[in-house]
Amino acid sequence: MTDDINIQWYPGHMTKTRRMMESELRLVDAVCEIIDARIPVSSRNPDIDAICGAKPRMIILNRIDMADRARTKAWADHFKSLGFSVIQTDCKSRKGVSDFSPALNRLLAEKRRRYAEKGMAGKPLKAMIVGIPNVGKSTFINQVAGRKGAKAENRPGVTRGKQWVTVDPGLLLLDTPGILWPKFEDPEVGLRLAWTGAVKDDILDTQTLAARLMAQLWLDYPQALRDRYKLDGSLLPPDFASLGPAAQGFALMEQAAKNRGFLLPGAEIDLDRMANVLLEEYRSCKLGCFTLENVQL
Ligand code: G4P
Repeated sequence: MTDDINIQWYPGHMTKTRRMMESELRLVDAVCEIIDARIPVSSRNPDIDAICGAKPRMIILNRIDMADRARTKAWADHFKSLGFSVIQTDCKSRKGVSDFSPALNRLLAEKRRRYAEKGMAGKPLKAMIVGIPNVGKSTFINQVAGRKGAKAENRPGVTRGKQWVTVDPGLLLLDTPGILWPKFEDPEVGLRLAWTGAVKDDILDTQTLAARLMAQLWLDYPQALRDRYKLDGSLLPPDFASLGPAAQGFALMEQAAKNRGFLLPGAEIDLDRMANVLLEEYRSCKLGCFTLENVQL
């Protein structure tokens, strides 16, 4: 685990991030942004395009082991269509990590050609990894560097003693990952970050957080809920469709809690227990591997 995110950091953090990133970015030829394949929109920093300017860019869709495979492919195609180089990784099992060097070399082929024309053919090209906290930056850098365990320094604004990691001859990676902040102030983004465990649960009470997740999953992956919690759409309240997402989620959670036998003395439904079970089973992929954002969003 890494930095605990405190949402109160928000005021000014965008400006600060931007200033720090701009000075770091001068050192590199390409920016490789790691995002969480489960939430490809919410795990990005909305200012990243402005911060990176015209630098060649790569998107690393990480945690593909936890995401919906078909949606990951759709997202990869989407980012490619926007001009990004894209790779898909699962840093837990190192899947896809070896695609990084060839993809980066392709991305920087033009730059290398220009260096060669200027008689600087051997000059190494440099890239940096950026991403929001806990997305897997250090793990990725360690794997690319062939290191075990040691945490790549994971804080912004380190301006001295830069360490470079050799990716392959002629390709260096800054071993300090750039930390970006997601768009905390958007409540929908906050929800998704909390569902995936990227920020602490306490942006909302646990029951409401879980209820919103339940409602989202009922929209996107209803069969998984039918299978695991024996949910039955015909037993939902008649006005279910007209309810807001939190109320829908609570109705679903009540049914799930009953089916699981989560009852308190006096036959009251134990929603706290159900909420914790749902969040745990979602985060550990016991429910399935889901992507909670669609390309159309
Ligand atoms: P950061 O530098 O961006 O803050 O993230 P970091 O590498 O520290 O990774 C955060 C957690 O995410 C780590 O787990 C890491 O193992 C896990 N992780 C990174 N990439 C993947 C992936 O592709 N799939 C899965 N399933 N997990 C990934 P941790 O529990 O904090 O530590 P650890 O004991 O697992 O190493």
